[in-house]
Amino acid sequence: MKKLEVRQYLQASADVKGWFFPIDASLFGAVDEIQKMEGVEGNLFEIGVHHGKSTVLLARTLHGQERLGVCDIFEEQGLNRDASGKGDRDIFLGHMRSFGKIKDGELKVFAKSSEDLSVDDTTDRCRFFHIDGGHWPEIVLSDLITADKALLPEGVVALDDVFNPSWPGVGEGFYRFMREHPGRLVPLIIGANKVFLARPDFVATFRKYATPAKEFSKMLDAGPFSFEDKEWLGQKVLTAIRHSWVDLQPMRAALSHLGAARGTPLREFLRR
Ligand SMILES: C[S@@+](CC[C@H](N)C(=O)[O-])C[C@H]1O[C@@H](n2cnc3c(N)ncnc32)[C@H](O)[C@@H]1O
Repeated sequence: MKKLEVRQYLQASADVKGWFFPIDASLFGAVDEIQKMEGVEGNLFEIGVHHGKSTVLLARTLHGQERLGVCDIFEEQGLNRDASGKGDRDIFLGHMRSFGKIKDGELKVFAKSSEDLSVDDTTDRCRFFHIDGGHWPEIVLSDLITADKALLPEGVVALDDVFNPSWPGVGEGFYRFMREHPGRLVPLIIGANKVFLARPDFVATFRKYATPAKEFSKMLDAGPFSFEDKEWLGQKVLTAIRHSWVDLQPMRAALSHLGAARGTPLREFLRR
């Protein structure tokens, strides 16, 4: 997904409620773009949709014969042990039609707990698998095992909230997976609130596009972030480093959208 398409997605989905930082949306776009440059084709899957904020972006990356599968418990919120979001099927489907540009037959919805997903549901040829469902350790472990079974050799998994202090169960489930299933998936990128994982061979392929790390910023609108390699779990991981807590990018975009001429004092100030 090109930078312009990510910007169009951010604009289209601005009023969709959910949890998806622009830098993480840009990282989804960059991963998709690199997979397309590498000729990778496969399906996409997401666990935990809420109102579809991240799903809309995934739908916009579909090409050719690719399919998007999603899983959420929707009205069975009694199964949502930690109340992380609250999937609403009607709102979700409305957003997929309005903003996801989804075509007939491209979307398959599994309304059940992700613990009950099978390989028949996910398929075993996913190129992207986003995990943002239940946030307790056992379910994160189970979701990572499901993603591992579904993933192509060139696939990428994005896991939400690994470092978020509000959701310590995610980190616990993640480290259990890494300990109990060594070498299956290794870290590729640390975003603002997503950790991206891939097979070791694909990490090597991907890093061609991100060496040196600061070159990777050219592939996306990095806003107040830049990229550096950090050592984590025994290897170099492309890491989004936040340099400023004030993100001026949305204001710049709004001014250019409103047609404020270059050279006006506010535009010049925001260029810094
Ligand atoms: C944090 S929200 C998802 C946010 C969404 N990805 C976004 O971008 O805004 C978590 C979602 O997971 C769903 N969920 C919670 N427990 C689940 C489970 N065991 N299986 C499937 N979905 C679950 C909730 O209903 C909720 O919609």
